[in-house]
Amino acid sequence: MSGAQPSTGAPSVGGVPLDRCLPALRALEPRAQACYVYDLDALDARARRFAAAFAPLGALCAYALKANALAALLERLRERGFGADAVSLGELELAAAAGFRAPARVLNGNGRTVAEADWVAREGVALVNADLVEELDLLQAAAARAERRVRVALRVNPGVETAGHRYIATGDDEAKFGIAPSEALEAWAARARWPRLDVDGIHVHVGSQILDPVPLERSLEVALELAAESARRGSPLGLVNLGGGFGVDYEGRGVEFPLERYAAGVLARAAGRGLAWVVEPGRWLVAPVGMLVCEVLWVKRRGARRFVVLSAGMNDLIRPALYHARHRIVALRPRPGALEPAMVVGPVCESADLFAEDAPLPPLEPGDPVALLDAGAYGAAMASTYNGRGRLAELVAEGGRLTRARAGETPADLAARTRNDTIAW
Ligand SMILES: Cc1ncc(COP(=O)(O)O)c(C=O)c1O
Repeated sequence: MSGAQPSTGAPSVGGVPLDRCLPALRALEPRAQACYVYDLDALDARARRFAAAFAPLGALCAYALKANALAALLERLRERGFGADAVSLGELELAAAAGFRAPARVLNGNGRTVAEADWVAREGVALVNADLVEELDLLQAAAARAERRVRVALRVNPGVETAGHRYIATGDDEAKFGIAPSEALEAWAARARWPRLDVDGIHVHVGSQILDPVPLERSLEVALELAAESARRGSPLGLVNLGGGFGVDYEGRGVEFPLERYAAGVLARAAGRGLAWVVEPGRWLVAPVGMLVCEVLWVKRRGARRFVVLSAGMNDLIRPALYHARHRIVALRPRPGALEPAMVVGPVCESADLFAEDAPLPPLEPGDPVALLDAGAYGAAMASTYNGRGRLAELVAEGGRLTRARAGETPADLAARTRNDTIAW
């Protein structure tokens, strides 16, 4: 967000004052109580910075749609030269609809289906990351049916641990993803078993919200050692996919992932190896450009505690409930008075609907506008309709223009899916 400062009021997104977004949306959605707003100017700047860091490597920077697949964001990233990293048939189709062409598409995921395999064989992708060796048989069959070739990287679990919640750690021995290095070496050596596949890549992705580059550097070393070992065994690799995981400064403490230093380190290690490179950033690109804007519904005091009940809840932003993640909370029109800790909760009937236990906030009254910062990644993308709450509208702001990029869901939208269809079995 351009100029988002905790509790100082009047921050703006894409040239639009943040406190104007929800009232403006009500011209289209009179009952809207909250919305997501993304700053396209800020996205543009981050996309350029990321692309510049990895340009010397010639890497395909495939944006991980799982972080946020809003078409307006996808189109902007495509225009900035990014590819698309999908994890499902749905995301493959969203990527294609947003204009990502075959050489820019990557397919990930640990539950490969025949439908996904057929889609990639028919429509084309740059790469599939296979999560187990048996998946190669499925891909081979699909490629044969389509009479096409498919390039495949094997996702290797490098046994690298990362900091943070275990639900966002994917590279240690407990994680469900990937295969053991020894299995990968055997599969690369046996690649002739899958004549329609180019099984010449390695994929590593050790976790998300990583601020210390050391685990990423260690997984790079594991990938390079395995590539060298496979070459010694007569099966050289052609591609290394380093995954994503680049973290952002949720706490606003100026602690940033050292993107340029990390990319320069990869470039130095890449020299002379003749490998193609892929990276899969998600959060780093979109988290800081998105805000969840809502209002205070109630302020309740119990003993010494102040509870602030917001109009947005865990169904709109589940990261705090799911990962104990914390988002900075900002009063958009702060009233005069001292900051005082507040337990900030949502209106969902769950005790886990808790955004912060002790957010320092100014005096607040019902109706006051509030924003949760850095909500652009894994926010709207993970939203649900729990408690009969439709998913929120998503707005984009750029150069002072505000656009509704996705309509919010009304109770009527939810009811419209009710059926009474007899099914022959
Ligand atoms: C395989 C893979 N690549 C890329 C990403 C994107 O990660 P991040 O948003 O942390 O950059 C993920 C997310 O978990 C992933 O599983």
